[in-house]
Amino acid sequence: MTERPLAIAAIPGDGTGPEVTAEAMKVLAAVAKLEGFSYDVETLDWGGDRYLKTGEIIPEGGLDLLRGKDAIFLGAIGHPGVAPGILEKGLLLDLRFKLDQYINLRPVKLLPGVETPLAGRGPKDIDFVVVRENTEDLYCGVGGYLKKGTPDEVAVQQAVYTRKGTERCIRWAFEYTRRRNSPKKTLTLVAKTNVLTFGHDLWWRTFQEVAREYPDVKTDYNHVDACCMWMVKNPDAYDVIVTTNMFGDIITDLGGILQGGMGVAAGANLNPDVAPDGRRGVSMFEPMGGSAPKYTGLNQINPMAAINAMAMLLEHNGQPAAAARIDRAVASVTGTKMKSQAAGRMGHGTREVGDLVVAAL
Ligand code: IPM
Ligand code: MN
Repeated sequence: MTERPLAIAAIPGDGTGPEVTAEAMKVLAAVAKLEGFSYDVETLDWGGDRYLKTGEIIPEGGLDLLRGKDAIFLGAIGHPGVAPGILEKGLLLDLRFKLDQYINLRPVKLLPGVETPLAGRGPKDIDFVVVRENTEDLYCGVGGYLKKGTPDEVAVQQAVYTRKGTERCIRWAFEYTRRRNSPKKTLTLVAKTNVLTFGHDLWWRTFQEVAREYPDVKTDYNHVDACCMWMVKNPDAYDVIVTTNMFGDIITDLGGILQGGMGVAAGANLNPDVAPDGRRGVSMFEPMGGSAPKYTGLNQINPMAAINAMAMLLEHNGQPAAAARIDRAVASVTGTKMKSQAAGRMGHGTREVGDLVVAAL
């Protein structure tokens, strides 16, 4: 059987998104040659500029187009000419929901040579993964106003948790912890059971139940506020964290800064399901940095997060050797060739960092 090429949709997006996407694609081209696999990329012009011109965020037929791909690579969204929330909701959150990408996977790994704000800590101390639920909670957009714009205004924003959504995320996190097989082999539930006595009680009960099926995985529980302290004080205690959508959003930015900032942090939005006809869910991979408009076109933005996101894409799409090769190359470049991971202070330009990774493959 001949392997069909890996079909990728690229949404370079806004601001510096296209620049970092270009470097990730450069690394993809080089690693595909070395590892001997084929792929094709369809580049989509979705984002702020297109929205301002056409009023459309996801064009008609766009979702079906994505459903026909193996994976999506998203550069960045966020445009100074578009009110905050429009593109986030209309593109990023919409894709997460409609493609049912119910896992948001955020590795928090300090690479060699990368500076962390935690004094005295190095790569061996900071290496854990956050599994964030990605389709429920406060992100559902359930709520409304009463008497809007009057002194008696009431705003309600509800968190939605379902047994199905909770269980599939927790179960995936147990499987992942087992597969990761670190010496700690510990899954920590992060929630707020002392206050969110309905929704997070559901999380707590589901976690206890599913845990019985994974006797080889140790379990732990942190309230989210305490977790923020522990991530700073004892990051080395964590292996895998599973948490709700909103708390996951917050603690993964804390994790991002522990691992050296938005220049390196990458994430995956996974739909790990396989349909009865064999079709796999379509997952989306993205650098976490945002569109950073002030750096647009300057060749100063750090492409490492995008390159790390490409490694995650390949890992998830049947090319683990290519992913590992990129991981090693990135670690050697951060460890020996870069001054900093901050935009404009890397000691190289955006394109040159991409070239260094290619050379290290
Ligand atoms: C993230 C981002 C998004 C989120 C925003 C851009 C809507 O912060 O991926 O973590 O809140 O999920
Ligand atoms: Mn976030």
